[in-house]
Amino acid sequence: MRTIEWDNGTVRMIDQRRLPDELVILELTDYHEVAWAIREMAVRGAPAIGAAAAFGLALGARQSTARSRAELLSELESVAHILRQTRPTAVNLFWAIDRLLGRVRDPALKTPAEIVAALEREAQALADEDVAINRRMGAHGAEIISDGDNILTHCNTGSLATVDYGTALGVVRAAWEQGKRVHVWVDETRPRLQGARLTAWELMHDGIPMTLIADNAAGHLMRTGQVDVVLFGADRVAANGDVANKIGSYKLAVLARENGVPCYSVAPTSTIDLSLPDGDAIPIEEREPEEVTIIGGTRIAPPGVPVYNPAFDVTPYRYLTGIITENGIVYPPFKRNLRRVVEG
Ligand code: MRU
Repeated sequence: MRTIEWDNGTVRMIDQRRLPDELVILELTDYHEVAWAIREMAVRGAPAIGAAAAFGLALGARQSTARSRAELLSELESVAHILRQTRPTAVNLFWAIDRLLGRVRDPALKTPAEIVAALEREAQALADEDVAINRRMGAHGAEIISDGDNILTHCNTGSLATVDYGTALGVVRAAWEQGKRVHVWVDETRPRLQGARLTAWELMHDGIPMTLIADNAAGHLMRTGQVDVVLFGADRVAANGDVANKIGSYKLAVLARENGVPCYSVAPTSTIDLSLPDGDAIPIEEREPEEVTIIGGTRIAPPGVPVYNPAFDVTPYRYLTGIITENGIVYPPFKRNLRRVVEG
């Protein structure tokens, strides 16, 4: 199944907190539950969060008892407000909500029933488009992958992080489908271990050769010539090409530059936020200390230890070789070329 899907008023999603041990499907019928699932990272990954927010808004419309268009639109603003509070960094969340709210402002939608139906169609369209976009990104990205490449990746950017197929992992999948014999170094991705738990699970499921590494091994692998290209995703790309992505991405990009390894971010244009001039303007989520102090139920630090747990970092554009989008690969100068690719 897809990571997230809509079934006649029920949002079904894979509970990513339970992988790789169990494949549990959550069935949500209340938009508050969707907000909870995003915040708790039952669903995570920028495009998947966007799709979840879209379906959450569609659920909110269904749950409403509003009798007029004006009343429903006002209630939808409140639903959107709750969904917007869940996670701050991935811009796809805000992009998806804005897209759906834009749709319901269409004056041709006169009754609450028409608005509910339009929201469901729009959310479904957004989810379907995500899969098509990922496949296009994969096709563009596969051009820079050679037969035999060792690809180093971070976090989870696969089917689980999107509706299906993936961003950076979509590029890996596309190269593999073209018959290129690639091998993937999978960063475990502390603290939440999306690499170890999710990326390893996906690649093993697809039979794509991979090796799990501790995050700290990446520099050694690059210095000893065992990495041909670094590919990671993005949660938000600023207008100048600075990329916010899972904590640890910046370190990889700097190491890649130092060792002459090309480094690409793979992101749909819905992740590009031209309203922000540079990465300093991107809000960086901080999460609870327990993500750092407890692994799989085992405390690994003294009780009460002070912890700082930023969930993302910003890679300055100068460390990136390119940004792979569904509309093509963007190379420097990013400021001019990103605008072109977003505005078509
Ligand atoms: O905190 P997460 O797991 O939601 O972070 C996800 C990432 O950082 C991904 O690399 C990113 O969303 C881009 S790929 C879909």
